[in-house]
Amino acid sequence: FNFQQVSFLTSAPDIRALPADTGIEVAFAGRSNAGKSSALNTLTRQNNLARTSKTPGRTQLINTFTLAPEKRLIDLPGYGFAKVPLAVKEKWQKSLSEYLQQRQSLKGLVVLMDIRHPLKDLDQQLIFWAVESQLPVLILLTKADKLGPGARKKVLLEVREAVLAFMGDVQVQVFSSLSKLGLPEFEQVLNGWFSD
Ligand code: GTP
Ligand code: MG
Repeated sequence: FNFQQVSFLTSAPDIRALPADTGIEVAFAGRSNAGKSSALNTLTRQNNLARTSKTPGRTQLINTFTLAPEKRLIDLPGYGFAKVPLAVKEKWQKSLSEYLQQRQSLKGLVVLMDIRHPLKDLDQQLIFWAVESQLPVLILLTKADKLGPGARKKVLLEVREAVLAFMGDVQVQVFSSLSKLGLPEFEQVLNGWFSD
């Protein structure tokens, strides 16, 4: 699969405004600042396809990208950003759970978590919803370049152990947009989801 053949499709303010629910799509979700947009750019070898930012909460819209006819990547807004009003947070959690439950074309969920702060409450909630909806999950432990090899391995094994409790199809790997660590493994999982 050629992930470089990507183009911006739409920015949707909510899940009702997403493109028609046909074909195959894979969504990227995670806390604000986890590195979702960076991972999308790394995967597609683009510098600024998805806008990245040092300010958490940058991506407020659901940005959709086309890889091939009827094959989409979805960059979901980050959650867990402290400064967002509670009502907005609750509304977003509701639409996120609806999206995971109802979206027919959704074939897999990539959950990105900073390797230094894995499995926060909202991450666990999201994985729970995905497993409940029988969606395969790939956890990327992002910014792996921030830790040495020993520490990386330790977190990876801990998270792998912890996600057994979800009793679903949940894979875990380390990833870095900076060093490209884990990129081939990431591509392999996405290739599988897109070729189903
Ligand atoms: P929101 O859209 O706000 O939810 O954030 P996001 O999850 O899309 O994060 P984004 O990709 O914008 O990255 C957030 C910050 O982390 C930026 O300053 C990035 O440069 C940095 N970052 C992302 N990936 C990596 C990585 O692999 N290594 C390092 N060292 N920094 C990274
Ligand atoms: Mg983003």
